[in-house]
Amino acid sequence: MAKGKKKRKKSFLTDVKTLRKRARAHIEQGAVTQGYSADRETVLKLLNEALATEIICVLRYRRHHFMASGLEAQSVAAEFLQHATEEQAHADEIAARIVQLGGEPNFSPEGLATRAHAEYVEGENLIDMIKEDLVAERIAIDSYREMVAYCGNDDPTTRRMLEGILAMEEEHADDLVSLLENLGAS
Ligand SMILES: [Fe+2]
Ligand SMILES: [Fe+2]
Repeated sequence: MAKGKKKRKKSFLTDVKTLRKRARAHIEQGAVTQGYSADRETVLKLLNEALATEIICVLRYRRHHFMASGLEAQSVAAEFLQHATEEQAHADEIAARIVQLGGEPNFSPEGLATRAHAEYVEGENLIDMIKEDLVAERIAIDSYREMVAYCGNDDPTTRRMLEGILAMEEEHADDLVSLLENLGAS
């Protein structure tokens, strides 16, 4: 073999002794081990922004649910309520992960709208409401996609959670497009 081209044996697994030793150090950090290679502070900041986004989406969808009920648009109202419930479940998943990573979920109403990516828009009528929800979903889709890429292999658990949420936001956007089509508004 030519000089300098010697193949170095690739060792990608940590030996058992080191693994065991590492696990015993800083046990108070729970799920966050020495092998956690993401920037924890950045991940926590991103997750808190996502949490704010989900809370804003819950509030907007619930407002829309009650307003649509008043407009005698029962099937649209039901869809809004279902989305509100699913956004709440996302918020809960994210808050739980923040705690697991040793952070604190920010539920403060102060600055909530600024921390969130999506906006709280009331909408003048049914079509407006659906369009605003669709815009918010599209914002969420892009920001989750970026967060997934950021987590990469450094934090696969957070990444998988975000991928699941992303898939549901895509479904939401699709539902809203169908609603607009049914109403002849697209
Ligand atoms: Fe969501
Ligand atoms: Fe959504």
